[in-house]
Amino acid sequence: MTPNSIPISFILQQILILFLAAVPGGRILTDAAGGSWEVLKSDIGISAMHMQLMINDRVVMFDRTDFGKSKLALPDGKCRVDREEIALKTDCTAHSAEYDVVKNTVRPLMVLTDVWCSSGSLAPDGRLIQTGGFNDGDDVVRVFRPCSGCDWEEIESALDRRRWYATNHLLPDGRQIIIGGRAQFNYEFYPKTGNTQAYDLPFLVETNDKKIENNLYPFVFLNVDGHLFIFANNRAILFDYSKGVVVKTYPEMPDGHPRSYPSTGSAVLLPLKKLQRPTIEAEVLVCGGAPKGSYISAVKGRFVGALNTCGRIKITDPSPKWVMETMPRARVMGDMLLLPNGDVLIINGGSAGTAGWEYGRNPVFNPVLYRPDNQIGSRFEVLNPSNIPRMYHSTAVLLRDGRVLVGGSNPHALYNFTGVLFPTELSLEAFSPSYLDPGYANLRPKIILPVSQAKLGYRQQVTVRFTVAGTLNGNLVTVTMVAPSFNTHSFSMNQRLLVIGGGSVKPLGKSTYEVGVVTPGSGNLAPSGYYLLFVVHQGIPSEGIWVHIQ
Ligand SMILES: *[C@@H]1O[C@H](CO)[C@@H](O)[C@H](O)[C@H]1NC(C)=O
Repeated sequence: MTPNSIPISFILQQILILFLAAVPGGRILTDAAGGSWEVLKSDIGISAMHMQLMINDRVVMFDRTDFGKSKLALPDGKCRVDREEIALKTDCTAHSAEYDVVKNTVRPLMVLTDVWCSSGSLAPDGRLIQTGGFNDGDDVVRVFRPCSGCDWEEIESALDRRRWYATNHLLPDGRQIIIGGRAQFNYEFYPKTGNTQAYDLPFLVETNDKKIENNLYPFVFLNVDGHLFIFANNRAILFDYSKGVVVKTYPEMPDGHPRSYPSTGSAVLLPLKKLQRPTIEAEVLVCGGAPKGSYISAVKGRFVGALNTCGRIKITDPSPKWVMETMPRARVMGDMLLLPNGDVLIINGGSAGTAGWEYGRNPVFNPVLYRPDNQIGSRFEVLNPSNIPRMYHSTAVLLRDGRVLVGGSNPHALYNFTGVLFPTELSLEAFSPSYLDPGYANLRPKIILPVSQAKLGYRQQVTVRFTVAGTLNGNLVTVTMVAPSFNTHSFSMNQRLLVIGGGSVKPLGKSTYEVGVVTPGSGNLAPSGYYLLFVVHQGIPSEGIWVHIQ
C-alpha cells in the first residue's frame, strides 16, 4: 500500500487513536478489539487482597490487620487497639474499605480482627458473610450489610474450627459451606443448625502433600444435581455434603500437576444453559497453575515456568474425562471470570514461580479471553495489556456495567513499596472488555423491564423489555444471570452464570423489544440470592440489573 492509497478514514482513525491515547486518566487505547485499561484510583490506601461486589454497586475489600500502617486513616481519629496483634498493637489505619463504583470514591472501614487469607459469600439477603482469617480472626464471622455508612459487625468464636485459606459456597438452603483451610480436613456450615460441629472430609487428607499443603483454597462449585464439585491439588470429587458421601471421583488431571494453592491456577463453572431440559449439563474449566515441585524450587530461589494448560471436564457426565487445551500464555495466580456474555476472562498473575511470599515471577500483563462455544483450537484470544504487575494477593471482580475491577498484589509480609521486585499495589484499575467499545453502542441493549432489584421466583416466566438503537438480530439475543462472587487468591467463590433465555424476541415499537425468559427451576441451579441480569445481543451485553431470586 503506497501512502497515496491510504484511505482518509484510516488516517482519521489513527489521528483519533493518537488523540484518545493522550487523554488524561490513564486510559490505554491500543487495539480496540482487545479491550482497554483504565486506572481508576492510583492509591486507595490498602491493597485489595479480597473483594466482593455488593448489591448497592459498592465493592468491599480488605487486606490484613497485621500488615502494619496502611495509607488509609480510620475515620474520626479512631484506632484499633489489639494486644494480640503481631504488627501494631495500636493501629489508626484501615485495612478494609468500601469502593463506590459509581462515584469512584473509597470509604475506610473498621475491621477488628485479622481477615488475612479468609473467605466469604453473600447471603441470600445481600449481606456479606465473611469467615475466618488468621490469628485472633481465624474463628470469627464478620457481617457487612449493603447500606450507606454501614461497617463490619463481628461475631467472635462463631466458627467451629479456625479457617485460614478455606473456600466457601452458598447452598440452596441459604446457608454457606466452609471447606478446608490450613490443617483443616473438614467442613462446616454457617449459620449453624443445631450443634456446633465440623465434619471430616478425607478427600482433603488424600490430596494434601504434607510438605506443601497444596490443597488450600479448593475450587468448589455447586453442581446442577445439588452436590458439590470440589477440586484440590490435581483431582476432584462430587460430594453430597448433606450425607457426607463422595458420590463420584473424577480422574486426575492427565498431566498430574497441581492447580490449587500454592500451585494456584484458577477455575470456573462454565455457563449453565438449556435449563428447561430434563438433564442439564455442567462443565468446569481449570486453567494454569504451577508444575509439581515448583513451590519447593521457588523457596530455593528457582522459579519454574507456569502451566500453560487448561483442563475442561463435563462434571455431569457418567464417565467424565478431562480434555486438555493450551493457553497462549502460561500463567500462575491468574483469575478466571465469567463475563456477562458467557466468555471467560483469564487475567492477573505471573508466568513463573508460585503463590506465597516472594515466590512469583514474570507478570503476565495480557488478559486472555476463552470462548467456550468456539471449536477447540480457536477459543483463546490475547487481549491488550495493563502495565501494572498483579502478582500474589491480586484480585478481579465483574462490575454491573460489564467492566472488570482489578486490584491488589502484595507478595510481601508487610506493605513494601521500595527495594522489591513487585511493590505493594494500592491501585485499582478497570479492564473494559472489547464489548464496551463505543463502536458497539448501536448493538448494545438497554434493559427497561424488569426494574433493578426486582424480586423473582423459581421457574417463573419473566418478560424482559429492552431497547437496541441499531438493527436487532433477534436470533442473537440471550439473557444471562451472573452471581456476584467473593474473590481472593485467584478464585471467585460462588461464581456461576445461567443462560435463562433468548431467541424469540418480539418487536414492540421503535427500537423496543421483548423477550420471554424462565428463571432457573431450583436452588440447585441458582441458590436464592441476588444476581446480575444482562441482555446480550451479538455478544454485546447491556448494563446489568440486580434481581433477587427466592
Ligand atoms: C522491603 O523489602 C526489602 C527487601 O527485602 C527490605 O530490605 C525492607 O526492609 C522491606 N521493607 C519493609 C517496610 O518491610
